[in-house]
Amino acid sequence: MARVVVVGSINMDLVTLAPRFAEPGETILGERFLTVHGGKGANQAVAAARLGADVALIGALGDDAFGNELHAGLAREGISLEHVVRFVDCGSGTASITVAGGENHIVVVPAANARVTPAQIEGAQATLASADAILVQMEVPLESVEATLRLGHKLGKPVILNPAPAQKLPMEWLKLARYLTPNQHELAILLGASGEEDFRALMQRAPAPVVLTRGGDGAWFRDGGEPQHQPGFKVDVVDTTGAGDTFNAALAVFLHEGLPGAVRKACAAAALSVTRLGAQSGMPTRAELDAFL
Ligand code: RIB
Repeated sequence: MARVVVVGSINMDLVTLAPRFAEPGETILGERFLTVHGGKGANQAVAAARLGADVALIGALGDDAFGNELHAGLAREGISLEHVVRFVDCGSGTASITVAGGENHIVVVPAANARVTPAQIEGAQATLASADAILVQMEVPLESVEATLRLGHKLGKPVILNPAPAQKLPMEWLKLARYLTPNQHELAILLGASGEEDFRALMQRAPAPVVLTRGGDGAWFRDGGEPQHQPGFKVDVVDTTGAGDTFNAALAVFLHEGLPGAVRKACAAAALSVTRLGAQSGMPTRAELDAFL
């Protein structure tokens, strides 16, 4: 069983289903509203746990009703929450999500997630040292992303940096990652490139190996040599929220099988996740992934 440690955000997703996206200044009637457990860190932890990994999460929650519910949900998935801190003077993270035509618009309010500190990461050194793979995204403060990259690298652990939501980062940080897992748009932002440059050229000049997600077109990956393509799996898309998180989790869980095999399984797991509504509610179990493949 792979041991995966995730550093990242925990959000309550406030999801509205709508016939289309509203224009700026426009009000439209939605079809349905639901609250779903989310946050990129929590989503990756849950997806990895469902795929059979032993998972620990490093993050933060408010001491509020959302925090209680999210904490209980993560515990039910069997995720170690020893390093999830609770703040009494701060709310839990939220994401307001509109889903229309299988696409989404998301606004995240980090709240407690903004209080994940480098000291908290360093305090979890023993947990990070026990990992086969470490996952980190960018919904926690950048100094904590840096601390995770530095500590993971020092411990000799493969750190997968999922640069979402994307910002330009120092090349020196990126070199510390074992893999970068952006989509095409995120890779351009990460490297400070123009959006027009071919993604294969960007992959070649990234300072760490890139596994690039392309939605329904699957993924491209490069670990030295030419970029290779893993085609996507054809499914009926209901909601793409959490597909990238499922992809990253599967990559971490199956990394020990070698990169091409891990990318194939990651594409399959992500495809399954988009056939159901919601981030964590759509994530497949190991048995579902095996049956699909
Ligand atoms: O990647 C999907 C996630 O992004 C959602 O669950 C939402 O919480 C935002 O963080």
